[in-house]
Parts: sequence; structure tokens; C-alpha cells
Amino acid sequence: MKSVFPYDSVELSASGREVVILDQTQLPNQEKFLHLTSAEEIFYAITRLKVRGAPAIGIAAAFGLAMCINRFRTRSLAALEKEFLRVKRYLFISRPTAVNLMWSLDRMERCFYATKQSLGTTEDKHAIEVIRNALTAEARAIKAEDVRMCEVISELGFSLLHPGCSILTHCNAGHLAVSKFGTALGPIYYAQQQGYSPKVYCDETRPLLQGARLTAYELTKAGIDVTLVCDNMAATLMAQGKVDFVFVGCDRVAANGDVANKIGTNGVAIIAKYYKVPVYVFAPTSTIDLTSASGNDIVIEERPAFEVTDMYYTKPMAPKGVQVYNPAFDITPASLVTGIVTEKGIIKPREVKNILKKG
Ligand code: MRU
Repeated sequence: MKSVFPYDSVELSASGREVVILDQTQLPNQEKFLHLTSAEEIFYAITRLKVRGAPAIGIAAAFGLAMCINRFRTRSLAALEKEFLRVKRYLFISRPTAVNLMWSLDRMERCFYATKQSLGTTEDKHAIEVIRNALTAEARAIKAEDVRMCEVISELGFSLLHPGCSILTHCNAGHLAVSKFGTALGPIYYAQQQGYSPKVYCDETRPLLQGARLTAYELTKAGIDVTLVCDNMAATLMAQGKVDFVFVGCDRVAANGDVANKIGTNGVAIIAKYYKVPVYVFAPTSTIDLTSASGNDIVIEERPAFEVTDMYYTKPMAPKGVQVYNPAFDITPASLVTGIVTEKGIIKPREVKNILKKG
């Protein structure tokens, strides 16, 4: 599969001492890369959505943790361990909903202790070097696995499509949100490469406009037929028979098949059910969280009021001090989801519990 972009949205420099991200808050107007060199900069980049999208957040956090450990100057293994845990706990709370963040940081912690244990009583200087290398390799492996996952998911998603089909998508689950290619947008790129000429309707995705700024940008760049619509236009499109499929990404899948994704996804799924349009949720297994029994157990991030009242406007678009409710995600019940596309296969929401057992 060919990538649309000559660069990735998240990268670890060859030295392992810088995390390089494409600042997504500057898109579509400017492709500006940031070189992050501290835990605070990584934390800020994640909370302010300079890097965003569940898999990309997980990769950025793993790279950030490895980078901080590579930069931490010490001769003491105990001090290194203390710093590792400090940075891990700090990044762990940078955003609450996308489970890939916690998943990748926990994986880095398992790597730290497995490596430490394997070293026995080696002197600290040597142990520190080995642990640094192991953490850097683990973070790079998380990204490499994500690339592979996206390729597989893209091919599986493609198998659902037909030439000339039209897809409605919400938020951004493309190249920018992952390592490469995307999840919900991956099949669309693949379909284009296979000559299917897919047509995409892209919700603008209020309030932070991930659809307008990022999805429309990506798809335009790839030469895909994309039409931007406001979030309240999905019913009109479906009533006119213009949508064959809804494809969306996901931040967390609960054990019962409920899915958390960008605010507005549930509304799209409800409309799709009414108009009998299939809804596919694209979720790598790193997004499945069996400790959440249902969507009720998933923490939904609430974001600041100014994102609704002021952001992207030249003047405030609401009276000063008005109460604002700004949940960043919603839960789409399993009953509205036609299928969940994982790298291990396309499953029914009720099959989520078993998919992690599959090799
Ligand atoms: O707040 P964001 O922009 O990080 O929200 C992103 C989404 O909701 C995506 O759909 C999801 O993370 C899947 S990305 C492959």
C-alpha cells in the first residue's frame, strides 16, 4: 500500500532524543513540524491536540517516554527507574478516553521491568544503557506494529466496498491519526489505489473541526473525491440515498461492543440505523479495553468552553460567560454498530471479548 504522505505525523529521531510531530493544530494551512525534547512538551502536544487520534497519541507517548529516558542524565539505575515511573504517570493522564495511550505506556513499563529483571546484578552503567536501548526499541516496535495493523485493516475494510461507493466519515481516522495510512480512511486510500474511485462525505466535526481541517486535507491531498458537510447534514445525505457506508475510527471499545469515538458519532449511527446504512467502526486491538464492561465505564473527556465559543472564529460566537458543555467523545451502543474492523478480522460487536484471544 502506498502512503499519501512523504512523512509520518509522529516520529522518533534517529538519536532517540527528539520526538518529531506534525503540528495538527496548524493544518490545513501550514505543515509545521515540532521537535519535542521534554515530558512537558509531549504532555502539552497531546492535551492541545498537536498530536491526536488514538493510535498516534499512544505512539507519541511511547516515543516521549523513551526520549525522556534517553535524555535523563544519571549513573544510578534507581534514579532512572524513578524518572521512568514519574514520566509514565505524568503522560498517562494527558488525555483520558483513548485507551491506546494507557495501553502503550503500560507496555513500555512491562518492557522496563522485563529488561531490568533479565539483567540480574549487572552494574548500573551497563543496565542503564541496555534499558534505554530496550525502551527505544519497544517504542519503535509499537509504531511498526501500528503501521502493519493499518495495512491489514485497510485491506479488510476494502473488502466491504464496491466500485463507486460513497462513505460518510466523522472526525479524522486517517494517516494523521495513526502511524501511516489510517484506520477508517485506510480502506478508502486502498480503494482509490485499486481504481474504485470512492466518494467520501466528511463531517466537519465540531468543535475542533478534525473533519474539515484534517480529513478533508488528507483526502484532497490524495486526490480522493471528498465533499465536506456540516455535522447536521448527515440525515439529509442519507435520506437522499447518498451514503452507502459510515466508516469511523474509535478511541475505546468496551467488552460489550459499545464504542467511544469523537462526539457526534452516536448521532450519525442513530441516523444510519434509521436509513439502513451500515456502520463500521475501525478499531485496532490496542483500542479494545476489556476492563470497561460497557460504554458507561469509559471516561469521556470534557474540554474547555472556548473551543465551542471562540476557537476558529474571528470574534466570539456566543455571549460571554454562557454555560458550555463540551464532551469530546460519545458512546455509540453496540446495537448500532454493524461491524468492528480489527487487524484480526471483521467482527460483530458481541464478539469483542473473544478477539483478543485470537492469534
Ligand atoms: O480528539 P481527537 O481528535 O483525538 O479524536 C480522535 C477520534 O475520535 C478518532 O476518531 C479516533 O481517535 C480514531 S483515530 C484512528
